[in-house]
Amino acid sequence: MADITLRVNGSEKKVSVSPETPLLWVLRDTLELTGTKFGCGAGLCGACTVHVDGAPIRSCSTPVSQVAGKSVTTIEGLGANGLHVLQQAWIAEEVPQCGYCQTGQIMSAAALLAKTPSPTDEQITQAINGNLCRCGTYERIRKAIHRAAGNGGSR
Ligand code: FES
Ligand code: FES
Repeated sequence: MADITLRVNGSEKKVSVSPETPLLWVLRDTLELTGTKFGCGAGLCGACTVHVDGAPIRSCSTPVSQVAGKSVTTIEGLGANGLHVLQQAWIAEEVPQCGYCQTGQIMSAAALLAKTPSPTDEQITQAINGNLCRCGTYERIRKAIHRAAGNGGSR
């Protein structure tokens, strides 16, 4: 066990866990932020995507010790005041089907828009390539990202 301090959604958190504990379980079990999902546990599906210092990472395969002192953003903290523009676009385009992958999709999309405010289809494909959706919502995800970027929802 070790005391590890990290910043989560803007607040400093000190947790007492084994340093190898995956960040996902610290978020879900210790901090009770259950919006981040467990899919494969092996860095392959993207369901567990969160931001660390603004970059998208797979929290299932990131030991919490690697994020000590860093800033973590989860889906719960994405929209600082109400829903993030992507969450609004997701609702407008009715993106989710079962919903399981959607947190990871939105977190990857948010990291993309933060760097590339008006992405092309190719840039969107690259950004969400590692986020699997067994329900096949990819086209609606693409539309929602364009909508959030201000390019309308029709492309
Ligand atoms: S649960 Fe982390 S990548 Fe699948
Ligand atoms: S909405 Fe069901 S896995 Fe993506």
